[in-house]
Amino acid sequence: DEADKGTYPFYMLKEVDEQPNVMRKLAQTYLSEHGEPNIDKQLLQAMEAADRLYIIGAGTSYHAGLIGKRLFENLAHIPTEVHVSSEFAYEQPMLSEKPFFIFLTQSGETADSREVLVNVNDAGYPSLTITNVQNSTLSREATYTLLLHAGPEIAVASTKAYTAQIALEAILAKALGELTGQIIAQNFNIRQQLGLVATGMQAIVDEKDKLEEMSSKYLLKTNRAFYIGRGIDHAVSLEAALKLKEISYIQCEGFASGELKHGTIALIEAGTPVIGFITQAKTAGLTRSNLQETMARGAQTLTIVRESLAVDGDDLVLPDVDEMLMPLLSVVPAQLLAYYTSLNKGLDVDKPRNLAKSVTVE
Ligand code: G6P
Repeated sequence: DEADKGTYPFYMLKEVDEQPNVMRKLAQTYLSEHGEPNIDKQLLQAMEAADRLYIIGAGTSYHAGLIGKRLFENLAHIPTEVHVSSEFAYEQPMLSEKPFFIFLTQSGETADSREVLVNVNDAGYPSLTITNVQNSTLSREATYTLLLHAGPEIAVASTKAYTAQIALEAILAKALGELTGQIIAQNFNIRQQLGLVATGMQAIVDEKDKLEEMSSKYLLKTNRAFYIGRGIDHAVSLEAALKLKEISYIQCEGFASGELKHGTIALIEAGTPVIGFITQAKTAGLTRSNLQETMARGAQTLTIVRESLAVDGDDLVLPDVDEMLMPLLSVVPAQLLAYYTSLNKGLDVDKPRNLAKSVTVE
């Protein structure tokens, strides 16, 4: 039974461990043997006809949308906006002439996101729901649906749905970019990349001891922490911080590393953990100097770095995959750091206080 915990103490750990298989499953489902995307032609044509994509989501799904923006803009060259559904629903920005809406929702039932879809349908705009649950409300009500095939996600803190959403966005962006003749999309070997991602994820989940040790040493006793990064790394830092907050109750901010010095750095005290994501060549040096700035104020800094950018003394080195797909790897240690912190605080990892798996009120 897919929804059985088996020998795992908590669903969250099982779901973190399932991620390499989810990557393989998405490649099998949506790519041909030769790596050609196998996506509904009508959906692709509807997206191609759009002058702008609007990605809508809440919580972790919103964070997956932030990575999607980079993928759609880089691979398909279509301007893309990402919005928190509860904000968009009541303060709709000025729309482009031909918008296309993408709803990211693991459950397909989030009321805030559904409210946006109701408005989108009233206005007659085309939409796609990317969800893990077949026949869910947002799936039924959108024009098109793509399923995540991640298997049931039971833990309140979302893990495999986030990485599945990003991988599927990448496949979709590649398909769209090929259709619109983008060389970068043609050259993007998504099948090979997802294979590398799956292997890389496996290597990270095989290093659990190391992450439990890092959690015990730096996170267990603190009540404040930061994840920082620039660009894509900033987007991942938001998700990493959310994971830690929701299950360990540590106040954690995901922050744009260059923006920290404009105010928030005042919160750094002796020993405050600041974890930097360094996976993008053009900002690696800058994030390293921003980490230095926090260290000079007493922070305990840690680095999560892709192999080709690593230097002596880095704390966690991630295997190299395409820069656009690095979030699929960099988020995994953050999921595990949150898991072990919650576990060793003796908290209920799967059912954190005040939270629900799917929120059906606005
Ligand atoms: C709840 C869950 C989050 C989730 C969010 C959006 O708040 O606790 O983990 O990210 O809803 O859910 P969805 O099903 O729309 O992705």
